[in-house]
Amino acid sequence: MNRPYVIVSAAMSIDGFLDDDSDKRLTLSNAADLDRVDEVRAGVDAIAVGAGTVRADDPRLLVRSEGRRAARAASGRPASPLRVVFSPSGRLDPSARLFNSGEPVPIVYTCEAGARRGADLAAEVVAVGEDAVDLPRALADLAGRGVGRLLVEGGGLVHTAFLSSDLVDEAHLAVAPFLLGERGGARFVRPALFPQSPRRPLRLVEARPIGQIVLMVYRREFPSSYA
Ligand SMILES: NC(=O)c1ccc[n+]([C@@H]2O[C@H](COP(=O)([O-])OP(=O)(O)OC[C@H]3O[C@@H](n4cnc5c(N)ncnc54)[C@H](OP(=O)(O)O)[C@@H]3O)[C@@H](O)[C@H]2O)c1
Repeated sequence: MNRPYVIVSAAMSIDGFLDDDSDKRLTLSNAADLDRVDEVRAGVDAIAVGAGTVRADDPRLLVRSEGRRAARAASGRPASPLRVVFSPSGRLDPSARLFNSGEPVPIVYTCEAGARRGADLAAEVVAVGEDAVDLPRALADLAGRGVGRLLVEGGGLVHTAFLSSDLVDEAHLAVAPFLLGERGGARFVRPALFPQSPRRPLRLVEARPIGQIVLMVYRREFPSSYA
């Protein structure tokens, strides 16, 4: 299949929540881990999130470090990767920061009806499906635009769609040292049929503490056992 190398990146509580149930965004990472994520961002061609993350967090999805932005520009790339939103409904706020923070213009992958709703966004709105977003089609479209590495930064529904469709090559999971329990919001993934099962586990390629956070990096290499 013609698609970019896909990295999923998330920070979560020990019990697998991406956020709590309040209106304010919960900080799960520390400064060193946020800097690590910035470095990963600087190394990809595109960063994608779901519409739920745009509505909840209003991210800009830019590379923050001036040095990394300058290094990208010096190598002929845009200072920040292409920004991508998955939004089957096309119901996105045109005043969201993502659509108002400069070049390159973001891409919104949606379906036919969503494309009509999203027509006013300061984005390239691309329909890849009649009623739903066809992820392989969206990924093939990104590959056609020269995207070799895609970073998927949430949220839970989008992680679930990518992982259950076996479209993830690498997962970077940062675990914060607390549980949210009844105060938990979105989860890392929703219930689904995942190919990354005990019979076909991912390969753990790195596990290291970053202060009180633990980073785990998994690859889709499917070792025959996880012992
Ligand atoms: N801790 C972290 O690392 C981290 C990172 C990111 C986000 N978050 C948190 O996660 C929460 C948001 O997560 P979420 O699960 O609610 O939302 P989400 O995954 O960001 O976005 C959900 C939206 O994606 C679209 N979508 C759903 N299924 C899809 C599919 N199969 N293909 C393509 N698009 C699809 C739909 O858009 P439409 O509604 O437009 O149809 C859906 O409403 C927020 O609380 C945010 O703070 C945390």
